[in-house]
Amino acid sequence: MSGELRFTRLRPLRETAEARLKNAETSIDVSQMIYPMFVMPGKGVRQPVAPMPGQYQMSVDVAVEKAQEALELGVDKVLLFGLPERKDASGSAASDPNEAVQRAVREIKKANPAITVITDVCLCEYTDHGHCGLVTPEGQVDNDATLPLLAAAAVSHAEAGADIVAPSAMMDGQVAAIKAGLRDAGFPATKVMGYSAKYASSFYGPFRAAVDSAPQFGDRKSYQMSPTQSDEAMAEIEADIAEGADFIMVKPALAYLDIIRRAADRFDLPLAAYNVSGEYAAIKAAAANGWIDEETSALEVLVAIRRAGADLLITYFALDAARWLDRNR
Ligand code: PBG
Repeated sequence: MSGELRFTRLRPLRETAEARLKNAETSIDVSQMIYPMFVMPGKGVRQPVAPMPGQYQMSVDVAVEKAQEALELGVDKVLLFGLPERKDASGSAASDPNEAVQRAVREIKKANPAITVITDVCLCEYTDHGHCGLVTPEGQVDNDATLPLLAAAAVSHAEAGADIVAPSAMMDGQVAAIKAGLRDAGFPATKVMGYSAKYASSFYGPFRAAVDSAPQFGDRKSYQMSPTQSDEAMAEIEADIAEGADFIMVKPALAYLDIIRRAADRFDLPLAAYNVSGEYAAIKAAAANGWIDEETSALEVLVAIRRAGADLLITYFALDAARWLDRNR
């Protein structure tokens, strides 16, 4: 070979573990993680969720212990979903102060005030038809009639002591309605995390098994976004911010990393990304078959979501990730 080869040496950036650590552009840390939990009536109940190995439907007493375990691992933020005692057409249990979510909020805050308690605000777990809003006789989801019910649910969570309420119904105006409801009820300081850009995703399947919330007819495509949309996600986030959201979210995470990146570049509010149930289940199933390594693939996914620009990671891996990160330190 004649002449001098000209090239850039990048391998020194990664030749040793020390070099890799020193040059890491992206970090994941327990302080960024939010752990979703499913709470239900009863006592001492800890029911495995079949399509989500390692996750449980828990009665409030068990959930309190789980939240404590999370806190001890450094995960100080939880997101609560409820399985109600009863379901009806209007999802009336959603704002019942004696339902599992409201009780869990009270008990978790009482036992561990240091835990930030976030509550999912939606009707789908509470309606007998499984839709996220009221359904008209013609079978349409009625946006405006649903808003006061979402506001009432959010107020009941705030009364119980929730720090942040997170509306996930994808009704237009839900953040505005909840903000107004909280203000009128005397909870102006309760924060709102909008599930701003939430897609109609197949990856919610395992979650719907966990909370028994699959729609009994039709689908959620008239309110959740189509995977073809990107500009529309920006419009959804802008709308939430205009309505007063304190946090914004993109959901799911993995198939929407480009949306997370666009949102991170464009908006200043803290951005959460939801690493949803199907994303968790896929890794768990492949790992159980010995096809991929659970720890390294889960951590790789969480780094990717952070690298895309998320500030907060909502993930069922939170507690495992906390243990792995601690051990790898
Ligand atoms: C309620 C809600 C859903 C999820 C969070 N809030 C399900 C849905 O929209 O059908 C999904 C979470 C997950 O899959 O982990 N609307």
